[in-house]
Amino acid sequence: MKIIAGNWKMNGTRTALSEMINALQNIDTQNTIILCVPYTLLNIDSGRIALGAQDTSTHDHGAYTGEVSAQMIAETGAKYVIVGHSERRQYHGETNNIVQQKAAAAMTAGLIPIICIGETMDEKQSGIAMQVIESGVRECVPPNTNKNIIIAYEPRWAIGAGITPTDDEIAAAHKLIADTLSNMGLTNIPILYGASVKATNAAQIMSIPNVDGVLVGGASLKPDDFIPIITNVK
Ligand code: 13P
Repeated sequence: MKIIAGNWKMNGTRTALSEMINALQNIDTQNTIILCVPYTLLNIDSGRIALGAQDTSTHDHGAYTGEVSAQMIAETGAKYVIVGHSERRQYHGETNNIVQQKAAAAMTAGLIPIICIGETMDEKQSGIAMQVIESGVRECVPPNTNKNIIIAYEPRWAIGAGITPTDDEIAAAHKLIADTLSNMGLTNIPILYGASVKATNAAQIMSIPNVDGVLVGGASLKPDDFIPIITNVK
């Protein structure tokens, strides 16, 4: 059983989400399906699909115009929230420290944070990818975390690029994440792979040890692309 999560980013309408939910309703799978959609699409009956947000404020409430708190997200019925996505880091300057605060806020509200970590192309070329991944886990996972978190390894250079790391590189990154979590006293935390996942590579990627599922961007937007990713893997 795997976790198949979609990240719709700033895409989607109520009609598109309804169509996706209907299309996923009767497919034959035991996998967990999560769709992380814009805030405006939360609070709809999503059937067997769990919904998630894509970011949360670090604050509970107050004078933070434009922000949405984890409690507010939880109140919609959403179960998950992505924190620390590459695009938040790139366009909004989010650091590991901020991501850790967001993950903590999510857990306090009863949400499961999907904590994204991964190296840039510069970091990969400088040979420090593994340090970035390890420190990402150590610095983004809040202290006193219970087991209700998910880690997503998203090599930032591969997002939306149509290319992925090699299977050996994915295996090494996921083993490092699992080992780092274990050293922090955390076992059995799902570790997803994300970046350029599509129907043609998803099953292979999910056969790599320590890959417990995928976080899918572009290929999660349309049922014809997303459904085979879910049904090709048991
Ligand atoms: P793509 O699948 O479009 O590369 O995006 C991955 C991603 O950012 C998921 O969070």
